Amino acid sequence: MCPQTDFDKPFGLSDNSQVQVELPGDRGYPIHIGAGLIDRAAEMIRDKLGERRCLVVTDTTVQRFYGQRVQEQLTQAGLVRDDILVMPTGEQTKNFSYLSFVLDNLFMKNIDRKTVLVALGGGVIGDLTGFVAAIALRGLDFVQIPTTLLSQVDSAVGGKTGINSPRGKNLVGAFHQPRLVIIDVDTLKTLPAREVKAGYAEIVKYGLLGNASFFRWLETNGPQITAGKAAKQEIQVQAIRTSCAMKAHYVAQDERDNAQRALLNLGHTFAHAFETLSNYDGSLLHGEAVAIGLVKAFQLSHRLGFCPEADVARVQAHIKAMGLPTSIQGRGWPLEALISTMFNDKKVMDGELTFILVKGIGEAFIESKIPTEHVRAVLEMP
Ligand SMILES: NC(=O)c1ccc[n+]([C@@H]2O[C@H](COP(=O)([O-])OP(=O)(O)OC[C@H]3O[C@@H](n4cnc5c(N)ncnc54)[C@H](O)[C@@H]3O)[C@@H](O)[C@H]2O)c1
Ligand SMILES: [Zn+2]
Repeated sequence: MCPQTDFDKPFGLSDNSQVQVELPGDRGYPIHIGAGLIDRAAEMIRDKLGERRCLVVTDTTVQRFYGQRVQEQLTQAGLVRDDILVMPTGEQTKNFSYLSFVLDNLFMKNIDRKTVLVALGGGVIGDLTGFVAAIALRGLDFVQIPTTLLSQVDSAVGGKTGINSPRGKNLVGAFHQPRLVIIDVDTLKTLPAREVKAGYAEIVKYGLLGNASFFRWLETNGPQITAGKAAKQEIQVQAIRTSCAMKAHYVAQDERDNAQRALLNLGHTFAHAFETLSNYDGSLLHGEAVAIGLVKAFQLSHRLGFCPEADVARVQAHIKAMGLPTSIQGRGWPLEALISTMFNDKKVMDGELTFILVKGIGEAFIESKIPTEHVRAVLEMP
């Protein structure tokens, strides 16, 4: 493990310890993080869940890179027959048609309540497969093998599963925790650079919301995480480990997202509005929207008198240096459309805009009743 890191101690980690999501009953689970783990997935699944039939769900791109490797070991371990469902790549797959397609295929393959679903892919596959696991036969065990940086540090942990409705994103879903998460940083070598950077925005988010020394470490080490094939794997492992430990910490405090877990949404009220205005046409990835949202959350906090200007400048400089966007200038989105989209966000309570604000780097808090004119003003800022 890398030296000079003590920023994960407050979140329950010691040197080389495994990240564990602590939840009541049998809902807690380990998160294995390292290089080469995908080739030990079958062994880890068998150690954790015993000899069970496994059924893999993936997408066409991930199937091409990793599907066969995972299939082969599962087969050798006697855990799978020819069971793999390959979905089209992309956000469109998180819809009712593919939900019913997967369910239908599972029943055709005569699954039973002991069958384990294995989600192999990014957040789209994880969210869809997790939701299927939540509802098929009133609940199946499932394992997450996230293969994008975003899913490794965010969506694979915490048990939020679901699909989109024609009326909006993630409107249909369930809380259903995986039994095991296996994160292999080798998979990041094939991930397009733009997707890696977008995932990095969520890593920065953890530093900004509750871990100033982690953010300081990222200011130095960030470029090693996103450098593609030249990336330093031990730095990637450290960053993912701290991110997962922090997510696990907030999830353990508030599994169903009624209070403290909301801090994980730093930057997201803005980000969701940007994504809506971009029509999910591929011009703005979720992580890119989050990068801008983080800057806007800091600008808004400064404007309202909570956060020093120097911290806003540091955040903006780091996000820019990492090749991520920091403002919406040039996008042509009407301000009023953005504001009204924010009011339609599913997190709006009693018609009031609630934001996650900061007192500075690493000190997020929840604030409601934010006057709209301040939001409008920061949206216009560079
Ligand atoms: N459940 C949660 O808590 C949570 C949190 C954040 C985001 N999400 C959801 O996650 C989804 C986004 O996830 P994502 O960013 O991982 O997108 P994604 O699953 O669409 O993956 C992005 C792209 O990368 C490809 N890919 C995946 N792994 C690869 C690899 N190792 N090498 C090469 N290509 C690879 C995919 O085929 C896809 O084209 C959204 O639907 C979002 O709503 C959920
Ligand atoms: Zn996010």
